[in-house]
Amino acid sequence: MDPVEGAATFQRSGAEYDAFMGRYSRSLATLFADWAGVVAGQSALDVGCGPGALTGVLVQRLGPGGVLACDPSEPFVQECRARHPGVDVRRGRAEQLPCEDSSRDVVLAQLVLHFVSDPETAAAEMRRVLRPGGTVAACSWDFAQGMAMLRHFWDAATSLDPAAPDEAALRFGKEGELAELFEGAGFQQTSETTLEVTSSYVSFDDLWSGFLAGIGPAGQYAVTRPRDQQDALRRALFEQLGSPDGPFELRAVARAARGSAPPASAATSP
Ligand SMILES: C[S@@+](CC[C@H](N)C(=O)[O-])C[C@H]1O[C@@H](n2cnc3c(N)ncnc32)[C@H](O)[C@@H]1O
Repeated sequence: MDPVEGAATFQRSGAEYDAFMGRYSRSLATLFADWAGVVAGQSALDVGCGPGALTGVLVQRLGPGGVLACDPSEPFVQECRARHPGVDVRRGRAEQLPCEDSSRDVVLAQLVLHFVSDPETAAAEMRRVLRPGGTVAACSWDFAQGMAMLRHFWDAATSLDPAAPDEAALRFGKEGELAELFEGAGFQQTSETTLEVTSSYVSFDDLWSGFLAGIGPAGQYAVTRPRDQQDALRRALFEQLGSPDGPFELRAVARAARGSAPPASAATSP
């Protein structure tokens, strides 16, 4: 498989991912699967599964045989297989899903579409693999307002470096963007919601060490700073958070959208 641009910073271990983002995505997965209406007896595809936060929730509801998962990151594919024995975990990208036509009742993408180079093709692929009347759902962080860890990080970074690549500019963090993508792909009855989770940190270093794994745009930005700038960034983030001297919590809000594939009688191209 050719390298996938959006997966370049996700060539890390599952433990490193969990310390940074999995600590949020595990609890988000339950809310997201509830809202998408995942119930026993369905077959599901987890697009961009990572080490398997959502995959695990799907296995609880559908059993391993009901779940197909895919991700372009080889370490994450290996980790997802190890964490969820019996699940068919394939290496693949959203723009070319490794999944047969009309074979799934539910197709889900949690915290993925903002990393995908061609989201329109990904949405068309999600429709291709869904059975008529099946459910598509996706969620992305509200980068501008709702994801405190990343908001504080980029506020600290841009205070020192106005050119820092604030993720607030990423697509799909704003109201309407995911639903618009699904409508453009021909999905019907689209709706949106927000999903809120929190994560607890034992100390500021518990938070800071997560960035030093170099995962995602924020982690990459942190680890590619020269040492003096990285130290300044650490200090700015500490102050940004109110100089915590003990445990603290951060909230994170995701925007989610869902839609239905047209019924068989109406299944035409968008
Ligand atoms: C923030 S992680 C989310 C992982 C998991 N869904 C979760 O909720 O923890 C983003 C994931 O998107 C994957 N990814 C990046 N580009 C992708 C693409 N074009 N198609 C599918 N997945 C992609 C990355 O490899 C990574 O596992």
